[in-house]
Amino acid sequence: VVAAPATDRVHVTHAGGAYDVVVRAGILRDLATHLAAIVPGRRVAALADAAVVPHLHEWIGESAPWHAIHVLPSGEASKTRTEWARLSDELLASGMGRDGAIVAIGGGVTGDLAGFVAATLLRGLPYVHVPTTTVAMLDSSVGGKTGVDTVHGKNLIGAFHPPVGVLIDPLTLQTLPERHYRAGLAEAVKHGLIRDAAYFDSLERDVERLGQRDADAVTSLVARSVAIKAAVVQADEFERGERATLNAGHTIGHAIEHASAYALLHGECVALGLLAECAIAEQLAGLDPEVRVRLSTLLARLGLPVHLTLPLTDEMLLAAMRHDKKNRAGLVRCALPTALGTMGAGDGSFTQPVSEALLTIGLAAIRP
Ligand SMILES: NC(=O)c1ccc[n+]([C@@H]2O[C@H](COP(=O)([O-])OP(=O)(O)OC[C@H]3O[C@@H](n4cnc5c(N)ncnc54)[C@H](O)[C@@H]3O)[C@@H](O)[C@H]2O)c1
Ligand SMILES: [Zn+2]
Repeated sequence: VVAAPATDRVHVTHAGGAYDVVVRAGILRDLATHLAAIVPGRRVAALADAAVVPHLHEWIGESAPWHAIHVLPSGEASKTRTEWARLSDELLASGMGRDGAIVAIGGGVTGDLAGFVAATLLRGLPYVHVPTTTVAMLDSSVGGKTGVDTVHGKNLIGAFHPPVGVLIDPLTLQTLPERHYRAGLAEAVKHGLIRDAAYFDSLERDVERLGQRDADAVTSLVARSVAIKAAVVQADEFERGERATLNAGHTIGHAIEHASAYALLHGECVALGLLAECAIAEQLAGLDPEVRVRLSTLLARLGLPVHLTLPLTDEMLLAAMRHDKKNRAGLVRCALPTALGTMGAGDGSFTQPVSEALLTIGLAAIRP
């Protein structure tokens, strides 16, 4: 008897409707059936990352369930208005009309860009996301944020345009480079830290299976992370309060990302940011120091950095933080845990101002 692959389904609601995130190893074998159910009768165009195109045949099977496929070059450098315009023009030239739909196959870059194309083409077409990276599966596929980068910064032009469905096949991770695979897991650790101590415990138990990209372990990780992100986003779709908890580790993480000129991957910076911000939470939010010990051990076992080994001074990192668009009244703010699985609400913004002296204490916690 061969056990059927584990299936998990998370229902996500938002201001304009709802969609299901379905996680199952091998689900892409039935992509045509799923698309027919999610976007019935629509003419589907695929937008796919160049790195996944060679694997589509293996994942999906003989007959591709789309009229045309449009390929975008891999990497963050594709998340531009130039690429948005090129893809939009290609779709229009190929006859895309109001009866069209888009299926986006790739990581967060593909999802954000294809989602923004879908948000704007003919004033909005439905799109289905098929995420193929850990980041896209457990983070960017939920929340409806789409957009592109500019020379002034990342994600500065975009729209809220949730997908009409998300189909997640953990088998697609088999070809993802190791560093990208592990970096995405930092956001899962964050989800446990901010909202679900039992999830954090299960990550500690599953480290080995996750390292092997075991389909069942990945399925349950993705489903739990998606459920947590969906719960937070549903409670606060337009970022007035609770959604700030998803920024745990990101005030310092983003500063490292910018100051290092993207030498580290986003998830690697988040791992360091979570540790530094937990050290701050010990001072400002009464966090038990034992939480940081467990966090550090878990991150290290997942192959994520726990020490900042790049030559970045406190001053360089503080300067990067002073430019954060989430600052208020000139003060740097952090979302801080009060306990494993619980975030401080503060004044309702779920963030607190943090002095530069305390930020320096946080940074000291990740110095080798
Ligand atoms: N919209 C949101 O809420 C949200 C949330 C988090 C991140 N993001 C965005 O997501 C982006 C980062 O996403 P990412 O980490 O997935 O990066 P990515 O899309 O660039 O993918 C990482 C790398 O893996 C390759 N790749 C993707 N799938 C593969 C597979 N299955 N096999 C082999 N190679 C594969 C890609 O070509 C790329 O080189 C950033 O632009 C970030 O701003 C958005
Ligand atoms: Zn992040």
